[in-house]
Amino acid sequence: MKFATRATAISPFLAMAYGEKATELEQQGHNVIRLNLGEPDFGAPDAVLDALSTSLDKPDYPYTSALGLPQLRQAISNFYLEKHQCTVCPDTIVVTAGASGALLLASAALVEEGDNILLGDPSYPCNRRFLNAFGGDVTLIPTRAEDNFQLTLKDVQSYWNSNTKGVLIATPANPTGTAIKSDELAAIARYCQQHNGFLIVDEIYLDLALEQSGSATNASTKEGLQTILKHTDFRDTVIVVNSFSKYFGMTGWRLGWCVVPPAMLPIMERLAQNLFICPSTLSQKAALACFTPQALAQCEANRATLSARARLVFSAIENMGLAIDAIPEGAFYAYINIEKTGLNATAFCDQLLADFHVALTPGNDFGNHRADSYVRLSFATKECQLTEGLRRISAFVSRLETVS
Ligand SMILES: Cc1ncc(COP(=O)(O)O)c(C=O)c1O
Repeated sequence: MKFATRATAISPFLAMAYGEKATELEQQGHNVIRLNLGEPDFGAPDAVLDALSTSLDKPDYPYTSALGLPQLRQAISNFYLEKHQCTVCPDTIVVTAGASGALLLASAALVEEGDNILLGDPSYPCNRRFLNAFGGDVTLIPTRAEDNFQLTLKDVQSYWNSNTKGVLIATPANPTGTAIKSDELAAIARYCQQHNGFLIVDEIYLDLALEQSGSATNASTKEGLQTILKHTDFRDTVIVVNSFSKYFGMTGWRLGWCVVPPAMLPIMERLAQNLFICPSTLSQKAALACFTPQALAQCEANRATLSARARLVFSAIENMGLAIDAIPEGAFYAYINIEKTGLNATAFCDQLLADFHVALTPGNDFGNHRADSYVRLSFATKECQLTEGLRRISAFVSRLETVS
């Protein structure tokens, strides 16, 4: 049997591969600190768990509409209005199996064989694979720390060619946590629109703004953490992707959504009907409770905890003499420059895991540009684990200094 070239060409997701190596070490009896995966340790809000157990008393889980439960689409629309002061018609919201499901459907709807799509380097590896899966040819554009590792209008202009169909940007991004400036994003949206292209904006970390000072600034008022949907001029060419996985801590529930141009809705509906039938009914019913005041208060408390952890991590990294070249504004990642250690990212991660039992992810998971110089640390981990992990990384870095 011969497997499809598109399948065999996919590289492994290194963050997961390091997780498997960590499991092997644990099976040998070692205590491994896992800072490799982008999975919040908080889990779903209590109100969601309560809603789930109530629904289990009267199990009724038929297929829903392919676009999702109407009440959930309405609740997401209300969330945009209340949290982001942004009007989004529920009819343009498609509930999906995570942001991944949304990206798959959007790629199926937009990408033809041989189309070129522009993405920044570094960026979340799976996003480019959805585009590749439908024959898209992804150009990874090197980004710079001074631009927050985000694309600029200039980059898009200089890489756009006659085959270019669109741009995909995640903001705040994985692996850097850095956001694109709203004006720059709007300028890119305008350029895509003028060139008959699309712009997919992955806003999965939008509501996880990090507070540098410990103040309780509202995420939506911070520069760079505005949804692109506030620019209503681009609603016919911009697709916004979001998820219940990160802010709501519901990774394994496989639930997300996208907001699409009205003309794209029937296409998405047909694709969703055929490819998924519908998102999980069980998860959708429980997720309605995400938008209760208790659940939202719990998510905000989790965000404050992540901000405190970010401050802990950034100062520990600095004390090790390593650099974070662009300070993250959201998410739960530190993209650490390890050039000073003299090791490349893979050697750094391999030695750290083998000798100090801490799992990180090498920059090579996220692209090619200077990928050997960076490792990603995820601080979506309990404080005691994080503190011990940082202590071990510091010991590892000191050992490298002694050796060199
Ligand atoms: C930038 C980005 N987009 C999309 C996803 C996929 O998330 P989901 O669990 O909603 O499919 C992730 C997961 O880490 C991510 O970091």
